[in-house]
Amino acid sequence: MKRIGILTRDCAGINACIRAVVRTASFYNIEVIGIFRGYQGLINGEVKVLTRRSVSGIINQGGTILKTARSKQFLTEEGQLKAVRTLQENNIEGLIVVGGNGSLTGAHLLATKYGISTVGVPATIDNDINGVDLSIGADTAVNVALDALDKIRDTATSLERIFVVEVMGRECGWIALQVALAGGCEEVLIPEKDFGITKMCEDITEGNIKGKVSWIIIVAEGKAKAVDIANKITEITGLETRVAVLGHIQRGGRPTRIDRILAAQLGSYAVEILKEGKSDVCVTKRDNTFYTLPLEEAIKPKEIKVDNYYKLVKILL
Ligand code: F6P
Repeated sequence: MKRIGILTRDCAGINACIRAVVRTASFYNIEVIGIFRGYQGLINGEVKVLTRRSVSGIINQGGTILKTARSKQFLTEEGQLKAVRTLQENNIEGLIVVGGNGSLTGAHLLATKYGISTVGVPATIDNDINGVDLSIGADTAVNVALDALDKIRDTATSLERIFVVEVMGRECGWIALQVALAGGCEEVLIPEKDFGITKMCEDITEGNIKGKVSWIIIVAEGKAKAVDIANKITEITGLETRVAVLGHIQRGGRPTRIDRILAAQLGSYAVEILKEGKSDVCVTKRDNTFYTLPLEEAIKPKEIKVDNYYKLVKILL
């Protein structure tokens, strides 16, 4: 194998992964072609050789030096054929795709429909890749959200207020659960768990009578909008609420030590796997051991075990 390509989505730790791919490949005398702007860039032929030097000083940077974009054109056969042509014209023998569910679905399609050798590296703040314990970017996202939450808590405590804080995660409550437990929050609303607003409001009112006036409620974006929950609480309890939607700050920032190391290991392992001739797989790490799983499995919906976390949030409130 002489030449491989890499394209990415966006989250903290992806640059560390690009660096690991380029330097591991260089160790084996394999050239790496960086594909800019994700699948759209692959369609448009936006490619550039990445050298050991060109990935210097990026291990601590959030985002992706390759930039990224959503591509509607890649959903069409015409777009896919153009993407395949770019790979062929540039003699790219294998493709590493670093990203979440959508990116890995694209890698699976290129492998199964067009016979391209692809390896996926799970990288998404949502941590919703099936069969993968921890995706690149998820740890940083939780830490960024936690930092914001600690600041909100200062105000919530000083002004004795109820705050409803919305976090990202798409249809998955993983970020919300982590933030709620690590942030010492009173309630967490996630897609995986039913909840009754009336019961929560009764708890708030009861707490209020006993002198507990500050509450922080975490809402996963896939469950509800923070503003709707806050309005409902005010309507039922008569108490003042404030809302904070953390949004895209959770996707940026300096990657944590956990994300940098995971990115380095999975990026390097992805090169080894391509070199071994494997394709249509996703790399992952469990108990400090590296595995591959079929992309077909990885892109299925992930069921996260929420009960232990949820119970503990309620015990510790
Ligand atoms: O999948 C990562 C994620 O940040 C989700 O948590 C969020 O719902 C979505 O992407 C936001 O997408 P965009 O950046 O396109 O608005």
